[in-house]
Amino acid sequence: MTKNIAVLTSGGDAPGMNAGIRAVVRSAIHSGMKVWGVERGYQGLIDNRLVEMDGRSVSGIINRGGTILHSARCEAFLVPAGRERAAKTLLDRDIDGLVVIGGDGTYRGAAALYEEHGIRCVGMPGTIDNDIGGTDFTIGYDTALNTAVEAIDRLRDTADSHDRIFFVEVMGRHSGYLAMMSGIAGGAEAVLVPETPTDIGVLVDRLRACRDRGKTSSIVVVAEGDEAGNASEIAAKVSEQSEFTDQRVTVIGHLQRGGSPTAWDRILASRLGVAAVEALVEGQSNVMAALNGGEVILRPFSDTWEVKSAFDPRCVRIADVLAT
Ligand code: F6P
Repeated sequence: MTKNIAVLTSGGDAPGMNAGIRAVVRSAIHSGMKVWGVERGYQGLIDNRLVEMDGRSVSGIINRGGTILHSARCEAFLVPAGRERAAKTLLDRDIDGLVVIGGDGTYRGAAALYEEHGIRCVGMPGTIDNDIGGTDFTIGYDTALNTAVEAIDRLRDTADSHDRIFFVEVMGRHSGYLAMMSGIAGGAEAVLVPETPTDIGVLVDRLRACRDRGKTSSIVVVAEGDEAGNASEIAAKVSEQSEFTDQRVTVIGHLQRGGSPTAWDRILASRLGVAAVEALVEGQSNVMAALNGGEVILRPFSDTWEVKSAFDPRCVRIADVLAT
């Protein structure tokens, strides 16, 4: 049975990661295990940067954004030599279980660590992008969504006051999920996402139709991964092809990554953290604690790259219908 485990955060930080670390540490201690925190993701395993944690190490962090363990995207872990050094760091301390909290990219490395060195790995989905296959929601998405919607609400005030069009760029890397939901919740007149083709002519027609129906301002939410370009480029194309020239562009950017996690993200992280430790206690590996229809379940790592993530094309229609 696993006696010693470690926990790390990998990839972009997401609000709620700290709540996840807290849940892992406290439930591991509750199960009679020792638990180490790894600093800076997989890089910390390679560099042997581990700290033993106790219940007090995670006091007062459930409400804090970011990750107290720090995070990194680690190239060296992608090659076998890097993983060998990482495994040695763990095995030297008799650690045979690892919880990884992170986004896409986190799970392939963990799977390789188990296959090559027998370190059992369990994942928790953590990214604002909500783009991981096999889970309905990822830790951090809800907070980022609320941050983006608050920004859109503020921009709506000034857009209304000046009868302007605002182009608001929302994060999400290659996924339009966060942008689409921000657009629906923010009442955007148009939402441009990489999952559907963006046609500038169609966008211009829509903005004209909105104006003709009496709207004096418009919000266009642009997912950063949209194939037609970033928000500035799309705004410029709209200006070139239309009479709309007095526009403003706002890139919300990393503001979406920080901040105190919402209650939803804290609870999700707590539930997934307890489930991840239970999975290690049961001797499982290469599974992610995931949310499925309200239930916490374990999904194989392979689902994170083989199953399509949560984007629902029906939301495109909802955004369109409600923008009229
Ligand atoms: O994956 C989270 C995310 O915030 C994406 O939405 C964004 O594209 C990317 O990370 C930004 O990465 P970085 O913080 O390295 O600039």
